[in-house]
Amino acid sequence: MKPQNPFVYGRIVTGKEFFGRAKLIERMHEYILAGQNIVVFGERRVGKTSLISEAIQQLKLPCLKVDFYEVRTEREMIIRAIRGIERLEKQVPFFNRWIALGKRARGSITQTFDQPSMVPNVSFGAYFEDPISTITDLLDYIHAFQAKKKGVVAFFDEFQGLLGLENALSILASMRSEIQTHEHTPYIFAGSIRRKMHEIFMDPKHPFYKSAIPLEIGPIDFSEIGPIIVRLFESGGRKVDSEQLQGLYEMLYGNTGDFQQLCNALWEVSKPGQMLGKNTLQDALDVVWETEIPIYAAYRKSLTQQQNRVLQTLALVDGKEPFGGQFRKVAGDISPGTVQKALVKLEEMDLVFQPYSTNDYRFYAPFFKLWLVNQASYSTL
Ligand SMILES: Nc1ncnc2c1ncn2[C@@H]1O[C@H](COP(=O)(O)OP(=O)(O)O)[C@@H](O)[C@H]1O
Ligand SMILES: [Mg+2]
Repeated sequence: MKPQNPFVYGRIVTGKEFFGRAKLIERMHEYILAGQNIVVFGERRVGKTSLISEAIQQLKLPCLKVDFYEVRTEREMIIRAIRGIERLEKQVPFFNRWIALGKRARGSITQTFDQPSMVPNVSFGAYFEDPISTITDLLDYIHAFQAKKKGVVAFFDEFQGLLGLENALSILASMRSEIQTHEHTPYIFAGSIRRKMHEIFMDPKHPFYKSAIPLEIGPIDFSEIGPIIVRLFESGGRKVDSEQLQGLYEMLYGNTGDFQQLCNALWEVSKPGQMLGKNTLQDALDVVWETEIPIYAAYRKSLTQQQNRVLQTLALVDGKEPFGGQFRKVAGDISPGTVQKALVKLEEMDLVFQPYSTNDYRFYAPFFKLWLVNQASYSTL
């Protein structure tokens, strides 16, 4: 039988599929067991959700997870909260008892059973009607759960999504004042849009200011992930040069998800017994780009000629020193003012960003950068 592609991307990974990060997991365990709140920052696809899920799973604790990714309406927020409770209820039924406490009983709950598994389906529509009471109901439920069963973890993912709601601030304020009283329950917040996450947790004017221990997660060290990847390729009879692999990893800024996507494609375009080299890489990138090209093309179309030139040059010089000599040499005749304006636009469109530590620019989508480099090499042939 053909061995299955071992590289997984686009979903949460835990257990055997989860690589490295042993020290971070240990730290998270300490915080969780002490009932501390944590906020996890990091780029998209770097592995925040997987890390948090793995840490909780290892402790075998029940988890109430709500994903607030781009939640647009209050109704949607309510549905997501209900879904989170439903998932938890499948592992550890508690809702009925909470209702029995009588505090929040308004209307009726309905319970049906999934055939043939007989897993109870509880529906709580009647309880969650308006956004503030939904959030306080949700937090009350967590609190009561904790009081009875001990050791529940609340995990609010893509938390910055709440800022999109009309009454975001009042929702956040009532959340904060409630959470503050839940001393023994660890709340874990995570989010990919750094600017917004910082607004919530680092701005003294914000209700969540300093309410959780910040954890910044970056790439997994290549010395940790590299050997695992080499071994996985070898298990399918493919040979890879570790140094080349490291080069690819760095090209993708050490983004775990993108790296797995590329490895998945490398596996698809190669056969057992093969040494992976330049041609396989080109084929693999073509596989990755295939679905993305319409998006890339749309971006390029929406930019002016000068903006496109700056974007392309950034790709070619890997975002380094946009006001330096090398940039100007590659870009041709272009004024610093034009570059400046174009950079503002590219940042606004979330195409590039500046990491804290440098004046260089990074692409949000490193595969887009590689595609631009590829395009440029064709056009100069
Ligand atoms: N520790 C890890 N080991 C292996 N792959 C990982 C790990 N962390 C992340 N990944 C890869 O990254 C992808 C995105 O992970 P995810 O946890 O969803 O990131 P985030 O929440 O930061 O966007 C996963 O589908 C997987 O391919
Ligand atoms: Mg995530």
